[in-house]
Amino acid sequence: MTTVDLPLLPLGRGTDPDTERGVECPGDLPPASDPSLVERARAAKEKLGERVFVLGHHYQRDEVIQFADVTGDSFKLAKDAAARPDAEYIVFCGVHFMAESADILTTDAQQVVLPDLAAGCSMADMAALSQVEAAWDALSAAGVAEHVVPVTYMNSSADIKAFCGRNGGVVCTSSNAETALRWAFDQKDDAKVLFLPDQHLGRNTAVLQLGYSLDECVVWNPHRPNGGLTQEQIDGARMILWQGHCSVHGRFSEDVLDELRAKDPDLKVIVHPECKHEVVTRADMVGSTEFIIKVIEDAEPGTHWAIGTELNLVKRLADSRPDLSISFLDRNVCYCSTMNRIDLPHLVWALESLVDGVVVNRIEVDDRTEAEAKVALDRMLALPGTGAVRG
Ligand code: 13P
Ligand code: SF4
Repeated sequence: MTTVDLPLLPLGRGTDPDTERGVECPGDLPPASDPSLVERARAAKEKLGERVFVLGHHYQRDEVIQFADVTGDSFKLAKDAAARPDAEYIVFCGVHFMAESADILTTDAQQVVLPDLAAGCSMADMAALSQVEAAWDALSAAGVAEHVVPVTYMNSSADIKAFCGRNGGVVCTSSNAETALRWAFDQKDDAKVLFLPDQHLGRNTAVLQLGYSLDECVVWNPHRPNGGLTQEQIDGARMILWQGHCSVHGRFSEDVLDELRAKDPDLKVIVHPECKHEVVTRADMVGSTEFIIKVIEDAEPGTHWAIGTELNLVKRLADSRPDLSISFLDRNVCYCSTMNRIDLPHLVWALESLVDGVVVNRIEVDDRTEAEAKVALDRMLALPGTGAVRG
């Protein structure tokens, strides 16, 4: 057997029959889902007309994204949901925290549906309200809470956003984390930020965009007393990073990146800021999914790219630009398993139920949580350059 030394394969084009990676079956395969589902989804959407608005995050499957009225990253979708007050139903093809944010930003008359309730987010689950409240109490006991401004990434539950709302904090997304952090540091003298729940986005933004040192960023481990930090570490920190991460973006490694660069000196690497600091600092560009899409759309023909973000999106980008060499920045397949929970059968079920007048899998945030979370979301939407929307 000949060995083929390929660290990863250009998506959709390269194959390695010896290891079977990237091998495509010849000819036309029957579709994975019942082909009538496409017709049923189309018919149900048509019957619902303007009453339904379908949002699709960029990490959704192709079979689902084709039915989205708008696609976007989590920031764009939050604004898009708020901008459609006439739609009775918002069907959110994304994950639970996004549907919660849509419910908070839409009117009480609108109902938000998540086609599969198992579409959660492992990162959001890494910060539970009880853990964050315990951390806040520990920071009070350490004598620093009055200087701390909580900032939570959009990828968090509604009750964590509410915590930030009632404690003078704000929500941010990967598109506006720098602006949100600058806002937070302006709120108090000697301000420190408690950044939830993604340590990587917090660290990357603080160090690469605000100029803090790595030593000024400490990691709060919710499973250890005082977050596993000494008083000296807490006193010296500007960024207290929650020990959370994205299980998809956390996989990209500096080793693969270095290996690819060594093989292709023309390679440009673009990654999402949820990647580890060691990966982000080696990349040529870093930005949210919307940013990555724009860069690839505008790329010079013939250029070579390795992309570090979710595979559904990377595959679509590779398909949309056959004139570029596009690689995935991991050796292994890494879809977001919870994003992938939303498939065509679930979407059809949700839409056909709405046609029958039954609202399934409604995501409804309770009034108090909603009011407090909205404070933090509205603070984000009011940030300069972020663009105000109605709520
Ligand atoms: P953005 O949509 O903000 O780019 O975040 C990526 C992500 O991981 C969503 O779950
Ligand atoms: Fe959560 Fe990461 Fe999946 Fe986004 S990609 S939903 S942050 S696990």
